[in-house]
Amino acid sequence: MNKIAVLTSGGDAPGMNAAIRAVVRATVYHKKRIMGVQYGYQGLIDDQIVELNARSVKNIINRGGTFLKSYRSKDFMEKEGRQKAFETLKKHKIDGLVVIGGDGSLTGADIFEKEFGFPCIGIPGTIDNDIYGTHYALGFDTAVNTVIDAIDKIRDTASSHSRLFFIEVMGRDAGFIALYSGIAGGAEAILIPEMLNEEEKLLKKLKMSKARKKTSNLVVVAEGDQSGGAYELARRVGNRLPGYEIKVTILGHIQRGGSPTYFDRVLGSRMGVEAAEALLAGKSNVMVGIKNNKMIHTPLEKTIKLNPEMNRELLRIAEICSI
Ligand code: F6P
Repeated sequence: MNKIAVLTSGGDAPGMNAAIRAVVRATVYHKKRIMGVQYGYQGLIDDQIVELNARSVKNIINRGGTFLKSYRSKDFMEKEGRQKAFETLKKHKIDGLVVIGGDGSLTGADIFEKEFGFPCIGIPGTIDNDIYGTHYALGFDTAVNTVIDAIDKIRDTASSHSRLFFIEVMGRDAGFIALYSGIAGGAEAILIPEMLNEEEKLLKKLKMSKARKKTSNLVVVAEGDQSGGAYELARRVGNRLPGYEIKVTILGHIQRGGSPTYFDRVLGSRMGVEAAEALLAGKSNVMVGIKNNKMIHTPLEKTIKLNPEMNRELLRIAEICSI
């Protein structure tokens, strides 16, 4: 391994820049060459590659988004696109690739390595945190803090008017953001895709909270929940509980932006160094992750096929603390 490349793919996540910086600096530290691919896998197909050095990544550790840009490449899902990507890598004499991204991006890395025998290592980067093989993905901590800040603000107005708020947070297939921010924001109820048929329970709870004279009610809903989203849910609840004044807030993409927390910066730095050093040492087809504060490696295939488990203890805490 003399020359490796790094790219970010899929939805951007705060902390990706810290990881890019660490990959670049670790590679330079070990006296090897490092290339940055812009716009994820699409940049490999379109040959958007630049050589980086230790100074190329100055002043980015504190920045959200990804300095290499990102993309959800449809072309890379086709064999023809991957063939072009492989040609580009060969043209630049690149020996290995670090892919920072979520589920779809790691799937791409796995297929690519198996198809062309090209060494790839993954770093989990998604605010959704829905990756098997790590307790934390890059961006999750920052996103949850952003959501909590918003929930706190909504609480002020909700309690001033004694209103019921449905707050929709990101999480296409997973409820990690909803669960953690719901607990930290003191939500009345949390609806996540991992828990089915919760609507009747929610109605019962809301009736009880009225009887208990609660002044504000905040319900956090993951976008991927089976309720069909916060607006739909609010409409149905409103029909059955006419006594409530209901408002809906969709937090949307503000959850993906902003300066990364210390946690995501340190995590990105650790994962970046780990991934670069592993790749340079000849290891590949794994994702680096963190479990019990230790860096671990999980085969890419496993990270794609398995789903991280929802923490049952946290579900119970949410239930108890919202009485
Ligand atoms: O995967 C992260 C995520 O933010 C999801 O929570 C959300 O459903 C999706 O990306 C939105 O993607 P896009 O920005 O492409 O609309």
